[in-house]
Amino acid sequence: MRFQDKIVIITGAGSGMGLAAAGLFAAEGATVWINDIKADAAEAAVASVEKAGGRAHAIPGDVADEAFAREAVGMVVSRSGRVDVLVNNAGVSTIEPATEYGVWKRTMSINLDAPFYWSRAAAVQSMIPNRAGAIVNVASNAGFAAFPGDVGYIASKHGVTGLTKALAVEWAGHGIRVNCLCPGLTETNMIREMEAIDADRFVERRRRIPMGRIGRPEEQAAAMLYLASDGSSYVTGLIMNNDGGQMALYSGFSPQ
Ligand SMILES: NC(=O)c1ccc[n+]([C@@H]2O[C@H](COP(=O)([O-])OP(=O)(O)OC[C@H]3O[C@@H](n4cnc5c(N)ncnc54)[C@H](O)[C@@H]3O)[C@@H](O)[C@H]2O)c1
Repeated sequence: MRFQDKIVIITGAGSGMGLAAAGLFAAEGATVWINDIKADAAEAAVASVEKAGGRAHAIPGDVADEAFAREAVGMVVSRSGRVDVLVNNAGVSTIEPATEYGVWKRTMSINLDAPFYWSRAAAVQSMIPNRAGAIVNVASNAGFAAFPGDVGYIASKHGVTGLTKALAVEWAGHGIRVNCLCPGLTETNMIREMEAIDADRFVERRRRIPMGRIGRPEEQAAAMLYLASDGSSYVTGLIMNNDGGQMALYSGFSPQ
């Protein structure tokens, strides 16, 4: 019960690795506030946590709306007393060539602006006054290296790694740790939806995973819990791959 009585906010937790994290945090004693732009997904996530005996509440809304971020964090603080952990997990991705890329601003606002807005809201309203908090940003292997066909995703995820370091060094003196999880290919709706558009794109990617398989949402969730827990009490500003060896493989090589 590493998170007994801790107050945790997870954005985009209506599905995928955020949903898995909601279940794990709750199983370890936390009260989990579940944000998602899909209100029905947020409510269903709350119901699944409660069915397993955990505590959760929904905060449906668009993570990229700064006023909503402030209000949502304010509501959590007024109802739960504080925010101990913030997981900036919501994210979007697409497949479009850069010459035709039509979702730049929306992608940047969800993937990069939002983690800044939510981190600032949580820091100002709870973590700085309480001199305690852990923020986990979710970037991607696309925060380290590029592939063709999603310029906004790659730029925004590189931004998330920079945001993590900037906030880690600025807020360390306030007792706030800020770290970044970089998942590799993981079995969630995001990947299922892109495979439905362009299956070929993923054949080679799947083949080149050194551990020989795609990641599971629970494996990403476990890494989020580590970065949020006292087990990482001296860790801040870390950009952590969790990818079955994908980023370790020299470009152009196939795993043995
Ligand atoms: N699945 C992968 O292979 C992979 C790899 C690297 C990084 N990631 C990152 O992991 C994070 C979680 O993605 P996932 O794979 O679990 O995908 P997912 O699509 O299952 O989950 C993302 C959730 O975010 C929500 N969301 C989208 N826009 C939102 C908004 N504006 N406001 C609030 N919620 C919003 C969606 O409704 C969805 O429930 C993302 O940041 C993604 O970029 C995923």
